[in-house]
Amino acid sequence: MIQLPGLIDPHVHLREPGGTHKEDWDTGTQAALAGGFTMVLAMPNTQPPVMDAESLKACSTLAAQKARCDYGLYLGASQAPLSAGDLAALAPDAAGLKMYLNHTFGPLLLEDMSLWMHYFEHTPKNMPIATHAEGHTLAAVILMAQLYKRPLHLCHVSRRDEILVIREAKEKGIPITCEVTPHHLFLTEEDLPRIGNARGQVRPDLNTKADQQALWENIDVIDCFATDHAPHTLGEKDGPKPPPGFPGLETALPLLLTAAAEGRLTIEQIISRCYTNPRRIFHLPEQAETRVEIDPLAKWEIKAANTFTRCGWTPFEGMQVQGKVTRITLRGKIAYQDGRILAEPGYGMNIRKN
Ligand code: NCD
Ligand code: ZN
Repeated sequence: MIQLPGLIDPHVHLREPGGTHKEDWDTGTQAALAGGFTMVLAMPNTQPPVMDAESLKACSTLAAQKARCDYGLYLGASQAPLSAGDLAALAPDAAGLKMYLNHTFGPLLLEDMSLWMHYFEHTPKNMPIATHAEGHTLAAVILMAQLYKRPLHLCHVSRRDEILVIREAKEKGIPITCEVTPHHLFLTEEDLPRIGNARGQVRPDLNTKADQQALWENIDVIDCFATDHAPHTLGEKDGPKPPPGFPGLETALPLLLTAAAEGRLTIEQIISRCYTNPRRIFHLPEQAETRVEIDPLAKWEIKAANTFTRCGWTPFEGMQVQGKVTRITLRGKIAYQDGRILAEPGYGMNIRKN
């Protein structure tokens, strides 16, 4: 048996409000617990998006009623920029500010760099900023962190050139951190024939073997593993306009533990990237009496049929993994044991409340 702290996923899409046929606060936090996560930070590209006091309040009310693990809510940076006063007022209630700088699922997108400047200037320094920026956009937003001398977290970094720029920027003292998803660590474009081109759509795309290898070679530069759990139903994925996104909450830890069993990763690296670093970067509270118990020897096959997410599929279908969550204690209560969710809806707490 191995004991881990309650793991933190700083990047999930739980789809409520507006997309509850894909996932909701109940099923999404069940998936989190089944995957060994006791805290998730939820992205704002819901319908409506979380981007002002009213939408943040509405989402937070839904989460409070249904979440089974602890959570935080991102505030989305919209094209109608929030004032410095609004940002300061909302900062204590939000996990962070999310800035979408490249096209993806949902309406939040900031193309005009003067808007980026607005948010970098007026977002309180202690409010984490997380951004979706790929390729040249990533280099451009790193400049903002340097210009405004404030921390910036780069979401789902997936390419060789990106991780090399990040390494260089960190070495020069620019205050950036980054996350990588399990699907970019464990899948490449060569998996697309097996997954199917439509189902395999995800932002950022699955990339080349060389990109994947560069992520592994630069594992010391990667601060967090984040699932970017982005459930869409099979009907949607196989339909005429497949939306991008993969579910990931229930497969991340088993994949990472398998890499650890193969000697490609250490348990300490998993703990720093799924607990210590996200806690520090996002200023997250300690969860007292919380632990995740693992059977590191259990071998099993990933099957969508055995998952809690509502979306009903996984790009890792049929993969053999080693390492299984056996029990989770969350704030003194058993929240998960041997495949059963024991935490009730509403047990989860908003990490920004007091
Ligand atoms: C995400 C989604 O579906 O909300 N999709 C994805 O491919 N990652 C949006 C996002 O994180 O960019
Ligand atoms: Zn995302």
